[in-house]
Amino acid sequence: MVLAHLLTMRMIGSSFIGKPTYKIAWMKLQREQCFLLLMGHIGELSISDSILNSIGYSATKADSCSKLRTLWFHCNKFGRYARCLRLSNVLCIPEISGLLVTSNLRAMVFRSIKCKSHVDGVCDLLRQNRDTLKSLEFVHCRFSSTSFSQICSCIFLEAEPHGIKSFSIKSSSVADGKKSSLPADFVSFLSSGRSLESIHLSDTSIGSKCAKWILDTLLKSSLNLITLEISDNDIRGWLSKVDRRPGECSSLLGPKLSLKSLSILNLRGCNLCQDDAEDLNYVLIHMPNLTSLDLSDNPLEDEGIRSLIPYFVKAFEKASPISDVYLQNCSLSCKGVTEFLESSQTLREPLNSLSVAENNLSSSVAAPLAIFLGSPGVKALNIEAIGLEPLGFQELEKKMPKDVPLVRINMSKNRGGSDCASFISKLIMQAPDLVVVDAGYNFILPEALMTVHDALNLSTRKLRRLDLTGNIRLSHSVHAFKLLEYHVHGKPIVIIPSGLPSSVPYDDDP
Ligand SMILES: *[C@@H]1O[C@H](CO)[C@@H](O)[C@H](O)[C@H]1NC(C)=O
Ligand SMILES: *[C@@H]1O[C@H](CO)[C@@H](O)[C@H](O)[C@H]1NC(C)=O
Ligand SMILES: *[C@@H]1O[C@H](CO)[C@@H](O)[C@H](O)[C@H]1NC(C)=O
Ligand SMILES: *[C@@H]1O[C@H](CO)[C@@H](O)[C@H](O)[C@H]1NC(C)=O
Ligand SMILES: *[C@@H]1O[C@H](CO)[C@@H](O)[C@H](O)[C@H]1NC(C)=O
Repeated sequence: MVLAHLLTMRMIGSSFIGKPTYKIAWMKLQREQCFLLLMGHIGELSISDSILNSIGYSATKADSCSKLRTLWFHCNKFGRYARCLRLSNVLCIPEISGLLVTSNLRAMVFRSIKCKSHVDGVCDLLRQNRDTLKSLEFVHCRFSSTSFSQICSCIFLEAEPHGIKSFSIKSSSVADGKKSSLPADFVSFLSSGRSLESIHLSDTSIGSKCAKWILDTLLKSSLNLITLEISDNDIRGWLSKVDRRPGECSSLLGPKLSLKSLSILNLRGCNLCQDDAEDLNYVLIHMPNLTSLDLSDNPLEDEGIRSLIPYFVKAFEKASPISDVYLQNCSLSCKGVTEFLESSQTLREPLNSLSVAENNLSSSVAAPLAIFLGSPGVKALNIEAIGLEPLGFQELEKKMPKDVPLVRINMSKNRGGSDCASFISKLIMQAPDLVVVDAGYNFILPEALMTVHDALNLSTRKLRRLDLTGNIRLSHSVHAFKLLEYHVHGKPIVIIPSGLPSSVPYDDDP
């Protein structure tokens, strides 16, 4: 059975035989057509009118039965303007590299590469576009260590460093992932990449040893890396051999090794626990430029976040202070989050963006949160599903400072009821820069919207969206309907639930 096989090519260029509409064009071969490939040559594929239209090439009558509408013709004529290529496994064949021999691709996405012949096809294309390639991504692929080696070695040439800026592997597996290292050619690829800025390894079934090995390799490579993502891989214990002697660089990491330019670190969904958080302390000091840290979906618990506080306290004070922290769904309680919030209060540069969503924090977190709301610089706060309930919203409203710098807030799924609506009204009045409020699934009753209505009427502010979806009682309500009169750029600010029952009902059961 043929799966969804797509060849997508993005063309950029301006001087196509007087057809400027060709400028940004997408060519798509649908799956039926690809089926034909198994029998004939791709180049002979005839491109349908709808595709030709969508790429701004209007086929004339004469074209209709001639070679002029074959893929071969288009690749030959316009291939050199193609910049991005998205390719599925069946199309990774030598003929494709022949068709695209003139291309100067900058971005390539390969999907479902699993067998040797497809790897060969990938390698042909990589070699062909080595000089222009900036972004390389693999999705749903399965590589043996040999094939992964082969791919890396196509890009790595002893004499000249490659120009790839962004390298991603997503929802794929690399055969050696559970071992303690990846093929030597991968090291060569990483260390020869002077221009490498972002590396994403998401859901790639690498284990803790391999993750540590990657980190060590990067630390030794003196790259100018900006973003590192190792997410949705179970790497618990990956840093367990880090040297913890205070004041000294870890011997494992070696002296002076650091990821100096790294600014974004994403370790979402890595099954990291308290011990990992403690170890992380000793590694983060090697990332002096870190500004964004995502540890969401890891069972860190209060102890975990507590052991990171010393790092945060230092990190808030460094030259480029940490500004975005994501601790969504980390099994935290009110205690841990309160300590974290308090540690962030004493600082010179406050946080810009914080998520503590999906932790059971209960209404007692409201008081420290209210103080946090007043810290200058806090622009985005996600407190979705933290169990605030009416009491929490009352407390937030009561203790909220006069001037709140917030730009966006997500307070969905907190069962706040009318107290949630009342808090929203006050926030609208006291947060002049507020742009987006998500307050879905809060059991807000129609009568409670009166205050929101008044607040919206009185305010001359920047609010663009107030999302009240999932508050089922608001559908068909006159009060809710009246809110629709407030517009920004012709679009209503308030989103209310439609009359239809929500397709994703909010499960009130804890
Ligand atoms: C640190 O990050 C900033 C941007 O956040 C960047 O301009 C600067 O060059 C980085 N420093 C180093 C040493 O890479
Ligand atoms: C929350 O994190 C756990 C791991 O700690 C994960 O298994 C779970 O899927 C996450 N929940 C959501 C809604 O993502
Ligand atoms: C949330 O925490 C409270 C105590 O703070 C506890 O009573 C409650 O059972 C917890 N709820 C869930 C769903 O874990
Ligand atoms: C914010 O709230 C909305 C519901 O109002 C939800 O669909 C969305 O996923 C939330 N955003 C984040 C970043 O969690
Ligand atoms: C909005 O406020 C003005 C006073 O500023 C008031 O005259 C008007 O009736 C209000 N409109 C609504 C719809 O409440």
